[in-house]
Amino acid sequence: MREHTPTGERAGEPAPRGKQAMRFDVLTIFPAFFDGFLTHGIVRRALERHQVEIGIHNLRDWTYDRHQVVDDRPYGGEDGMVLKPEPICRAVEALTHGRSNPAVVLLSPQGRCFNQAVAQRLSRHPQVVLICGRYEGVDERIAEHVATEELSIGDYILSGGEPAAMVVMDAVIRLVPEVLGSPTSAQHESFQTGRLDYPVYTRPATYRGWSVPAELLTGHHAEVALWRRRAALQKTLRHRPDLLANPTRLDETDRRLLTELLGSAAPATGAVPCATSP
Ligand SMILES: C[S@@+](CC[C@H](N)C(=O)[O-])C[C@H]1O[C@@H](n2cnc3c(N)ncnc32)[C@H](O)[C@@H]1O
Repeated sequence: MREHTPTGERAGEPAPRGKQAMRFDVLTIFPAFFDGFLTHGIVRRALERHQVEIGIHNLRDWTYDRHQVVDDRPYGGEDGMVLKPEPICRAVEALTHGRSNPAVVLLSPQGRCFNQAVAQRLSRHPQVVLICGRYEGVDERIAEHVATEELSIGDYILSGGEPAAMVVMDAVIRLVPEVLGSPTSAQHESFQTGRLDYPVYTRPATYRGWSVPAELLTGHHAEVALWRRRAALQKTLRHRPDLLANPTRLDETDRRLLTELLGSAAPATGAVPCATSP
């Protein structure tokens, strides 16, 4: 097992005392898959600051046979292999022993669709165990008796649960208090407010004749804020009108702007939303 606590300890940032960091435990047959994920960007910084702990566990460490076999043929025939229940069950029991309220997530295309609301819910668990399937999948008894939930990251088939585990961890880690520099950083992001985030621009103000919206260059705070709200709603109407089906999640100003925009709304692009999850 590789324990990913800080790699480059920095002076002046001791582990906070008395505050338990959120913990992730990943079960995989390809632990090296996560090397780049753990050593870059926000995830790396959260590890260095002891805001999260991540254990990457090789499923084969929970096998007792000489060849460390983790898979077998499916009952009833058909091609492909299935991950056996015993190593996964043993691993989950060992990793969650003595811990309170762990979420045990089986990554699966047959699961409920992962979204921001699910990320928020998971961020309130002190421990999240992520089981990465491979081949034809995982013996169904893990979904029935061991996992607390099955999550899919979208309606497509990956070769393994590892990319999905990274997606889930990344989204949840952003929501752990103090991981993002500013406490409000996560609040205005897409989905948090019931709509998409506003479009962003940076220098130069004109590139190849493509200009940044004039309102953003005024330096007038209220005007910029209003433009952003309107632009966010416009983009949501165009790409994800399904998000606006429940306008009670919008505040008063957004609802007023939406009413104005609905008169002149461009047709939706036909983007297909991920199935909704609780
Ligand atoms: C090739 S897939 C198995 C697909 C399975 N036979 C089916 O059709 O539902 C192997 C593993 O990749 C992971 N996986 C594939 N697609 C996924 C998705 N959309 N979301 C989450 N995990 C996924 C799961 O862990 C799965 O057990």
